[in-house]
Amino acid sequence: MVKKFYIETYGCQMNVADSEVVAAVLEKEGYEFVKDIEQADLIIVNTCSVRENAEVRVRGRLHHFKSLQKKRPEILIALIGCMAERLKDELFEQEKNIDIIVGPDSYLQFPKLIKEAEHGDNAMEVELSLTETYKDICPTRIDDNSISGFVSIMRGCNNFCTYCIVPYTRGRERSREVQSIVNECKDLEARGYKEITLLGQNVNSYNFVDGDKTFVFHDLLEIVAQSVPSLRIRFSTSHPKDMSDDMLKIMAKYDNICKYIHLPVQSGSDSVLKLMNRKYTKDWYMGRIEAIKKYLPGCGLSTDVFVGFHGETDEDFQDTIDLMKDVRFDLAYMFKYSEREGTYASKKLPDNVPEDVKGSRLAKLIEIQRETSFESNKADLGKTFEVLVEGISKKREDQVYGRTSQNKVCVFAREDFKRGDLVNVKVVECTSATLIAEPVL
Ligand code: 5AD
Ligand code: SF4
Repeated sequence: MVKKFYIETYGCQMNVADSEVVAAVLEKEGYEFVKDIEQADLIIVNTCSVRENAEVRVRGRLHHFKSLQKKRPEILIALIGCMAERLKDELFEQEKNIDIIVGPDSYLQFPKLIKEAEHGDNAMEVELSLTETYKDICPTRIDDNSISGFVSIMRGCNNFCTYCIVPYTRGRERSREVQSIVNECKDLEARGYKEITLLGQNVNSYNFVDGDKTFVFHDLLEIVAQSVPSLRIRFSTSHPKDMSDDMLKIMAKYDNICKYIHLPVQSGSDSVLKLMNRKYTKDWYMGRIEAIKKYLPGCGLSTDVFVGFHGETDEDFQDTIDLMKDVRFDLAYMFKYSEREGTYASKKLPDNVPEDVKGSRLAKLIEIQRETSFESNKADLGKTFEVLVEGISKKREDQVYGRTSQNKVCVFAREDFKRGDLVNVKVVECTSATLIAEPVL
């Protein structure tokens, strides 16, 4: 009999939020969440399919669970999330130690599936939904010491970038009711949270119709900023084709909205962007960056970019380098293209850039970005920032760490500071990854 469950989460912030929904659904049925895997009767792995290596990592983990199962054969293993949706019952064949498979829109069925699995059957539900937003579930915060929480505002994606598996694993885009989002934010505020991140695959296409009123993202952002004035507000992810000046104006208007935008560019080459179906050009993207700099001077900026997509030439790659050097992102998440079965690209756009070329392009990009991040941090020397303390530094017990509004990681003397404090600090030193500061009184 399953009494206690444990969850491990891979992939994006959306998955972290989903694990909290799953925990809430199971707790409502009387199951108890445990932090120690050794105590669990049910091990849940929330998975990601965005790149091959995300899946490889999960398979390694499943293999590792076999030794636990040898000691305690009654343990059940559930694989949930994007990999569950992508591979469905194939997974029961490939990974013999899985008992339950649940896709991202089927978490309300999880308790029923546990019952089935307890009878010794393999149990699976992977139906995608056009409407499920888990709006009535108040997520269980798994990390109960936390001061920063995720709030999912929409699910799914309609963009069909040709390389991306997400529209297939998370289904069609749907927006969650405004009131249910506000209620969750207020609940977090009441529980002592200091920061929330509004989450969606493309938050800029948020669209909720209530009677004769339509709420778009900047409406929601303003409502949230007003509803929880004591919370720092962040959001992710923005899509360059949809990011509006109206949103930037709302960000400028409210102090409690963090001045940080994650704006994935993916490539700096117009022909590659076209093959990716990103629906913008390099010029359009640069125009969005200009708008950010106009409305929000000093705003933190980060991006996602990947090398080696179908047909990417040296010139295309040079365009990406030029864009990175022009924009000067504070931070970039950089990857090699990984072909995903089922996507348009996997059918029509062969993965034809050799692995060694992908590798050397990625290394070059990482090197350029490391220098840019260092320059960006050096430009902050002598400036003062408000930092939300997240905890004691892992490297030095006499220091705490936190983030600035611009999302830069900052460390400074621990003194009597504790998690959740907002501290004004002056930057005195830096590396390419961290600001080193002193509290100012
Ligand atoms: N290969 C490599 N990177 C990918 N991403 C999405 N799909 C792929 C893929 N098939 C990257 C994009 C996206 C981020 C979450 O992952 O940069 O923004
Ligand atoms: Fe990974 Fe994308 Fe699924 Fe998030 S939505 S878990 S990034 S595949």
